[in-house]
Amino acid sequence: MRGIDLGIDLGSSNIVIYDPRRGVVLDEPSVMTVDAETGEMIAIGREALPMIGRTPPSLKTIQPIRKGVISDYKMTERMIQHYMRRVCAYKIFRPRVSLAMPTAATGMEQRLVQDAISTCGVRQVVLVDQPVAAAVGAGLDVGQARGSMTLNIGGGTTSIALLTLGGIASVHAIRVGGDNFDEAIIRYMRYRHNHWVGPLTAERIKREIGCRSMAIPSDTFPVWVPGRSTETGLPGICSIPAGEIHEAIEDLVITVGDAVVTALEDSLPELAGDVVAHGIMLTGRMSLMPALRERLEELLGVSCRIAGEPGSRVAAGTTKAAAALRELRSGALLNPRLFESEEERELEMG
Ligand SMILES: Nc1ncnc2c1ncn2[C@@H]1O[C@H](COP(=O)(O)OP(=O)(O)OP(=O)(O)O)[C@@H](O)[C@H]1O
Ligand SMILES: [Mg+2]
Repeated sequence: MRGIDLGIDLGSSNIVIYDPRRGVVLDEPSVMTVDAETGEMIAIGREALPMIGRTPPSLKTIQPIRKGVISDYKMTERMIQHYMRRVCAYKIFRPRVSLAMPTAATGMEQRLVQDAISTCGVRQVVLVDQPVAAAVGAGLDVGQARGSMTLNIGGGTTSIALLTLGGIASVHAIRVGGDNFDEAIIRYMRYRHNHWVGPLTAERIKREIGCRSMAIPSDTFPVWVPGRSTETGLPGICSIPAGEIHEAIEDLVITVGDAVVTALEDSLPELAGDVVAHGIMLTGRMSLMPALRERLEELLGVSCRIAGEPGSRVAAGTTKAAAALRELRSGALLNPRLFESEEERELEMG
């Protein structure tokens, strides 16, 4: 782990900063509230989260990374700089940073974010592919002659990586994540029950029903959903059986399952066989929904394990991957293919 100081996962829902010696040093929602006129920052992260859907016209909440894409570069830069200052405030030595970018970020966006981090007093910024970071961070032995698959389901994206002998056999990403599940719940409540709910309520419902096994009778465990009637305009609370919410998100679970099937179809039969024999490792916070794991196992016929602390595996993995890259440079026995692109990028950074 020598020399690598901080790993950053710049996610659509959360920013995680990981220090290999201390573990997670920052875990905050990627949200900011700013003054609508002056742009002055009013709140950030955990403090700004409850303000979503509750701001007066003079304020606005901004989620600068949506569906794995940096939709507001300036705000992303401000957010990173704020958090880096918080984490590095008492550091005497300038840290080296390894960064997992959103899966869909373009080369230009990667460069802009690298530049933003460079202004925070760091020595060096190395980029790591997010699916590779997830696999390494989840503790999979990716150096073996065996296919290891990770399925990372975050707030805005789902990515699947199949690794073998230190190399990427196939990687696949779709712009479907927890936010889509929340939106599906909002739509379902609105059109089926004429009940309008906000994004934070939808997210809470998702977590609640995610803890319920899909095997339980669908009409038990009613979920209480506060909102506003779209007919009368009056506020009210609806009671919805958990099974109905499962129904609302079923199409999205199938979409995630289909993405795994596509990744398996793209891979060699021996590797696909390894995945069937050894299962899939789930990372990303959406994997904290046991109901989702259960349904995916049913759809795919493959066992799925949830990584310990699934929300911080990408950030942890970036530090491990970057450390391996350094070992590689110092002549250690590692298959160079796994980190080829990161090394090129690092060299490019000087
Ligand atoms: N306990 C939980 N049960 C179910 N879902 C959860 C739980 N905790 C968080 N989530 C969901 O996980 C998602 C965020 O996951 P994560 O932090 O891994 O995403 P991210 O890395 O920020 O996004 P991405 O990787 O897509 O850019 C959100 O949709 C959130 O609602
Ligand atoms: Mg993520």
